Amino acid sequence: MNKVINIEPIYQELPSAFADRLGIYYTQQVTAKHKKVNGQFFTPAPIAHLLASYCDLIKTHIRILDPGCGTAILSCALIEYLVRIQPKMDQIDIVAYETDLDLIPFSQKALDYLKGWLINKGIQFNYMLHYADFVLENASILKENRLPSLFEEPRSSEKISTLSFQIRLILSFLNTIKG
Ligand SMILES: C[S@@+](CC[C@H](N)C(=O)[O-])C[C@H]1O[C@@H](n2cnc3c(N)ncnc32)[C@H](O)[C@@H]1O
Repeated sequence: MNKVINIEPIYQELPSAFADRLGIYYTQQVTAKHKKVNGQFFTPAPIAHLLASYCDLIKTHIRILDPGCGTAILSCALIEYLVRIQPKMDQIDIVAYETDLDLIPFSQKALDYLKGWLINKGIQFNYMLHYADFVLENASILKENRLPSLFEEPRSSEKISTLSFQIRLILSFLNTIKG
């Protein structure tokens, strides 16, 4: 595929809108077979915003796990929403996973833009983008059931905040329902 990403942010564009355009652009570059094999049907921006609006967490420091991030539109929409309802937000950390090597530069571009957008708001933003299979990489942990399941609170020793847990829940749920 063409490695040049001919998509740049528009002035004052929301990160979710940029992620949306990156996703659309990417899917135009790959074959239907590639999309099918990788399950690459990205969440449209209006749906991402709707899903984000179900989150009612008011914290100043949040951590998000985005397993199968694509162009990170779910994280972008969630962050935009949380920043709006919590004007005192001061730090956001994301751990994102993506298995499609061709897609990684798009994920990175979206996350870099998100970072700049947050820095402009005075919010510290750290992200780690893993080119790795989330399930395989965490198989031993998942096997030991050390990560919270969708329906139970995490154990305190794991130092996973309820916020983090709930965001994980939402992101896991979003990825699950998209099959
Ligand atoms: C259905 S798309 C969703 C992308 C994005 N979260 C969204 O809502 O638009 C799933 C993405 O996860 C990636 N993926 C699939 N299985 C994965 C795995 N086990 N670990 C990490 N990424 C994975 C695919 O390459 C694809 O880009």
